[in-house]
Amino acid sequence: MRPEDAAPRADQTTRLVDYRAPDWLVEETRLNFDLQPTATRVTATLKVKRNGTGPADFRLDGHSMRLLSAAIDGRPVPAEAMIEGEESLTVSAAALPESARESGFEWTCVTEIDPSANTALEGLYMSSGMYCTQCEAEGFRKITFYPDRPDVMARFEVRIEGDAPVLLSNGNLVASGALRDGRRFAEWRDPWPKPSYLFALVAGDLVSHDDRFTTQSGREVALRIWVRPGDEDRCAYAMDALKRSMKWDEEVYGREYDLDLFQIVAVDDFNMGAMENKGLNIFNSKYVLASPETATDADYARIEAIIAHEYFHNWTGDRITCRDWFQLCLKEGLTVFRDQQFSADQRSAPVCRIADVATLRARQFREDSGPLAHPVRPEAYVEINNFYTATVYEKGAELIRMLRLLVGASSYRAALDLYFDRHDGEACTIEDWLRVFEDATGRDLSHFALWYSQAGTPRVSVKEDYDQGVYTLTLAQETKPTPGQREKRPLVIPCAYGFLDADGRNLGEDGLLVLDKAEQSFRFDLPERPVASLFRNFSAPAIVERRISPADRAILMGHDTDPFNRWEAARAFALSIAGELADGGGRIDPDWIAALRTTVTDESLDPAFRALVLALPGDDEIAGEIAAKGGVVDPDAIHHALDQMAETLAEATAPTLRELRAKMAVTGPYAPDAESAGRRSLANAALALLTHVDGGEAAEAAFSKADNMTDSLAALRALVHRGAPGAERALMDFRDRWRSDLLVMDKWLMVQATSPAPGALDRVKALAETDFNWRNPNRFRSLIAAFAAGNPVGFHAADGAGYRFFADWLIAMDDANPQTAARTAGAFETWRRYGERRQALIRTELERIMAKPGISKDMGEIVGRILE
Ligand code: PHE
Ligand code: ZN
Repeated sequence: MRPEDAAPRADQTTRLVDYRAPDWLVEETRLNFDLQPTATRVTATLKVKRNGTGPADFRLDGHSMRLLSAAIDGRPVPAEAMIEGEESLTVSAAALPESARESGFEWTCVTEIDPSANTALEGLYMSSGMYCTQCEAEGFRKITFYPDRPDVMARFEVRIEGDAPVLLSNGNLVASGALRDGRRFAEWRDPWPKPSYLFALVAGDLVSHDDRFTTQSGREVALRIWVRPGDEDRCAYAMDALKRSMKWDEEVYGREYDLDLFQIVAVDDFNMGAMENKGLNIFNSKYVLASPETATDADYARIEAIIAHEYFHNWTGDRITCRDWFQLCLKEGLTVFRDQQFSADQRSAPVCRIADVATLRARQFREDSGPLAHPVRPEAYVEINNFYTATVYEKGAELIRMLRLLVGASSYRAALDLYFDRHDGEACTIEDWLRVFEDATGRDLSHFALWYSQAGTPRVSVKEDYDQGVYTLTLAQETKPTPGQREKRPLVIPCAYGFLDADGRNLGEDGLLVLDKAEQSFRFDLPERPVASLFRNFSAPAIVERRISPADRAILMGHDTDPFNRWEAARAFALSIAGELADGGGRIDPDWIAALRTTVTDESLDPAFRALVLALPGDDEIAGEIAAKGGVVDPDAIHHALDQMAETLAEATAPTLRELRAKMAVTGPYAPDAESAGRRSLANAALALLTHVDGGEAAEAAFSKADNMTDSLAALRALVHRGAPGAERALMDFRDRWRSDLLVMDKWLMVQATSPAPGALDRVKALAETDFNWRNPNRFRSLIAAFAAGNPVGFHAADGAGYRFFADWLIAMDDANPQTAARTAGAFETWRRYGERRQALIRTELERIMAKPGISKDMGEIVGRILE
């Protein structure tokens, strides 16, 4: 064996334009695992077939393993016939036996891996004593040598031998039993061809929560959620969400489940939320386990959404997968859109939409406006793990939502039927996806396709004119340059609209107009000057710039039939006040307080909606607005402005807030349904405000009488974030009660990490030193990442201590787990928004990270792009 290339590759970039179909396909993959914590042996036998004609090298991906032996058609491959690269193994075409070159062959290799040392949590690793795998995107190549790319789909047969009582893999169980020395075996067969990234294996001391589901065609499916002994009683909600998801996908998309068994496993150490491995989803335990005492309403909603998301991947991801990783949004954008539709159907649709848009703006707009901006379908990457982003996921979902709006709901369904029909069993591209819509509707979508390749959030400016019965609406669009993309073209931007009259009644017809040029005017005959409600339900992922009078805003806020725009009007009001205050001017308009009071006491409105209206904008949201207008962001000034607003609002409305709390009280035992969750969210929004004026009295009372985690945590947060006298006592009580439940303790860490009260950094430092398992991604995110991303005042402390602390941790984490470290480093992406002094301090830290010996590809790419 000799190194593939003596010199390191200068360019580690993978590009979409370089895509080539695989030279070799795999028809069958047999895997044999002999599990040992430090030396697991994997025997892989692949039935390989030539794809194309002529001689081709047989190249496999692989690294971080020991190759023990390799054979072709049962004959050992001599060492000199194999070229072992840093991340590959190649048998040259010339070294392949004559018969194998055209017709294919059987490849067998034995590798040895060390799951106990795998802290990157990619490939086969151990978590709390159990074995588990994570193969998306390129983790399978750490298990065996393989063409580890999604366009190679094979049928898998897996045999596992180990000490653990439970041995799981994809598909159906075909055999299991006892072996010598207390060891056991299990054999699994997955009938559906799949790419290697969907492979999964789990082995451990697990117990299952079981149920069943009968599909629409009458097939019985066994459902199992596997957890550690002791957690069985926290699975009921996830199981219920799973059954509702299965039913919903049949009813809304006509998709039925396709195996006799569907399993979910909860693991404690996981880089992401969950993973859609065929028939064996693996979840971060945080998104499975729930009980009233330990999970908040928000946790329940997240669990429901993620269970649905992973289940929906069975069709949009597993049955139809991606040709290559540039097409990631093909499965993720669509599956996020589907899970959003599901949640909207299960709960209040407007409330879900508002929450989704708030997340999109906070994460994706932020990404799109900074150094990490990239198209929904990127064209180049160094490390694909860095592209599991808000842009690919959330903006990807928005593109599908726009498509559906443009073609209409029934054409959308017809296009999806065609998609499943035409592409089942294939690995597809965005071109395939759009062609399905073109064929099903007869539309030309070539202009719309620009959304997939052009990065950046378009800004739409609105001009209005009313003259002699004619209302003219002029929309103009512009997208600012993003890294590597200076020139921007006009996009296809759907705008759902309606008109109100001066009393807030409907005026004229609602409709949809489409802006597809740099500037366009639209004329409407209307009997009076309308108050236009534009981009209803957030009909396009754009930033709308519009000058609107306070009176018109009040009409929209009070009367728009589109709840999203009612909320939007309230948000715009609060944002403008906060922006002016942070800038050292402005005042707190009493009309804002009056309008809020009217809305939050309007009993015809859903309490959850009212809670959203009552919530003030976040620090980072205001920072984004200031930066977009070319201002310098001062985190202390923003925080002070928000404090002033909260205090003034609370002073003016304290009796109303107390009354609201009384009215919203939920009686009877806790239930996580949307209705009671909405009541709690309004009561707790009121509580947070009240804490600004009552010294924490109400929050202390609420904390001591809370019988569920939602109320308990809301009260704790109110006390701690205000630095109220009762805060320390509550923190101690909480810790004493929950110290052995790490998922609950994550909440306790996060409340402290995100506290704007003085001394947060010292507190975080102290917490990081005591009994803190930082290698666990949930712990790391709850303390270190939460401090950097959720504590603007502490993180941006003028002396740079917050930056230094954070960079130290990124450096430590990069050695253990590059993927989680690099993702967390995104907290620095907005650094150019701040003043010169802060920028200089951040630059020092970014350069220090870059200079770290042995920096990972993941971190090098992210920090490099941030610095550029
Ligand atoms: N594909 C997973 C999902 O969206 C996310 C994921 C990506 C999980 C990479 C782990 C690793 O559901
Ligand atoms: Zn997904």
